[in-house]
Amino acid sequence: MSDVLQHREVLLGVAGGIAAYKTAELCSRLVQRGARVTVIMTDSAKEFIGAATFEALTGRPVYNDQFQAKEHYQGEHIGLARRAEVAIVAPATARTLARIALGLSDDLLSTTLLVCTCPIIVAPAMNCDMWAKPAVQRHVTQLRDDGMHLVGPEEGWLSCGQTGFGRMSEPGEILKKIELVLADSAEMS
Ligand SMILES: Cc1cc2nc3c(=O)[nH]c(=O)nc-3n(C[C@H](O)[C@H](O)[C@H](O)COP(=O)(O)O)c2cc1C
Repeated sequence: MSDVLQHREVLLGVAGGIAAYKTAELCSRLVQRGARVTVIMTDSAKEFIGAATFEALTGRPVYNDQFQAKEHYQGEHIGLARRAEVAIVAPATARTLARIALGLSDDLLSTTLLVCTCPIIVAPAMNCDMWAKPAVQRHVTQLRDDGMHLVGPEEGWLSCGQTGFGRMSEPGEILKKIELVLADSAEMS
């Protein structure tokens, strides 16, 4: 049986949280399974992990700037969204969650997600008190209502030293979610 990830175009959005280091493993595992991965990093994500890591893992440029096209001169957000068969945001910070829920398009990642017609999976990661805030939960509810797929967060050790809900799901769990979503979308088409 062929691997559901083989030759699939995956858009991987990385926002600015500590868990971005785990996203490098997710990216590597996607590539090892035969997926073609394009990474968009937010400005804050670049404070946590280098673009060179994702460029080396994917063999593709890392995209960040809406106005400095690397590939699609009619709009990077348009070209990247059209190519994607599934989009995943990991880690999804509180700010990026809010942008997506509100339909904001003030950076390349949020603008591209607004153009995407493929399934979108969001893997939140944040401090447990942030996660519990009504504003964040409102955005999560909005994302679900809008048909987006959530994976995690899990309960456990958080980098700030607290224990609670907010830990990003492990790469293996996110990978399973991507497989499920891709398999479902293949069944529906
Ligand atoms: C050390 C450190 C760790 C952070 N970890 C997180 C996090 O896990 N989740 C989160 O929502 N924000 C976290 N932040 C705050 C975000 O980096 C900040 O809100 C940023 O504006 C997010 O922007 P982005 O969503 O465009 O990447 C952290 C900030 C610092 C300094």
